[in-house]
Amino acid sequence: MKPISIRPADLARPHVPLLKPYVPGLQPAEPGWIKLNTNENPYPASPRVVEAIGREAAADRLRLYPDPGSSRLRSALAAHHGLAPENVCVGNGSDDILNLLFRVFCDGEQPAGFTVPSYSLYPVLAAIQDGDVVKMEFDRSMDLPIDRLASCGATILFLTSPNAPTGVGFPASMLGDLAQRFPGILVLDEAYADFAEGNAIGLVREYPNVCVTRTFSKAYSLAGLRVGYAMGSESIISLLDRVRDSYNVNRLSQAAALAALEDQAYFEETLRRVKNTRDWFQRELVERGWYTYDSQTNFLFTEPIDEDGRAGPEVALSLFEHLQENRVLVRYFPKHALTRSFLRISVGQESEMATLNEHIETWTGSE
Ligand SMILES: Cc1ncc(COP(=O)(O)O)c(C=O)c1O
Repeated sequence: MKPISIRPADLARPHVPLLKPYVPGLQPAEPGWIKLNTNENPYPASPRVVEAIGREAAADRLRLYPDPGSSRLRSALAAHHGLAPENVCVGNGSDDILNLLFRVFCDGEQPAGFTVPSYSLYPVLAAIQDGDVVKMEFDRSMDLPIDRLASCGATILFLTSPNAPTGVGFPASMLGDLAQRFPGILVLDEAYADFAEGNAIGLVREYPNVCVTRTFSKAYSLAGLRVGYAMGSESIISLLDRVRDSYNVNRLSQAAALAALEDQAYFEETLRRVKNTRDWFQRELVERGWYTYDSQTNFLFTEPIDEDGRAGPEVALSLFEHLQENRVLVRYFPKHALTRSFLRISVGQESEMATLNEHIETWTGSE
């Protein structure tokens, strides 16, 4: 018998065949690259993480489903941040948490707001919902446009704080002001807050409309295991728990994140090294005369200047390509006027940044 003739795309919800998936930074399959393009940690996770994974695997528990609520990790995170377990929801990376927030709060009638530039996953998650969006542009200062944000009319507002790809941090007092004035859910995506001087966790205790998201991918070096979490009022967290997969965080990831959290001495030491390298490299860029935002993250956003003293999209692209030819990966965002003259450089180990410096020098012809 001939199979029925069906085109699955004709049966999909009409917006789905038109979706453009998120484009992650390149993950080269072969070794030999200096990888400064996806803001991973250049240092390994705590040795206790590997032990914990080994113990979990050896204990004949992999055939059992994981704890559906990640309850030990949830309680440990709550205690770590001075909150109750009811204020925490753990996800398969913070992308999972962001996705849940879009699913709960955004559709064709309830718009999601975000700034431009910020994390480029937000518009993708809104599009999957077939949801409306409100975009608010920064200007080159990258100062928070508080009045526009407060009155943007979105149901849920996503603010990357510190911002990506610029690395710029926002004062907690300003975020508190926004939480007070914005009549919707304010999500503060703190993927990089471990590298910053301040954070907004205090606002979770004060404002029932604030949700702070965090990740183990950056400062805890666990990007490969996918663990993130949300902190918010009981009411926000119970909504997220209603829509998440029941087993959204696997056994090994729960054990690993718990071990990483418990090894704060290792965490602090890794953080110190990354921040020292960041501050040194930022000074290098500034000494070159390249416009570079003050970074509160583990990456630097800088506007390269070529040997003729020019900056601009062609110049940024030229350095990007030169680095790629030399097996150094950084990130270039050509689509927006505020980003296309810049490159985003993740902070690597000191030796990797020194090699990057050498390649920059061959490019500028100063060697
Ligand atoms: C601003 C921002 N939020 C969230 C994430 C996602 O982190 P995770 O690995 O926890 O999904 C990233 C990853 O690069 C990010 O840059």
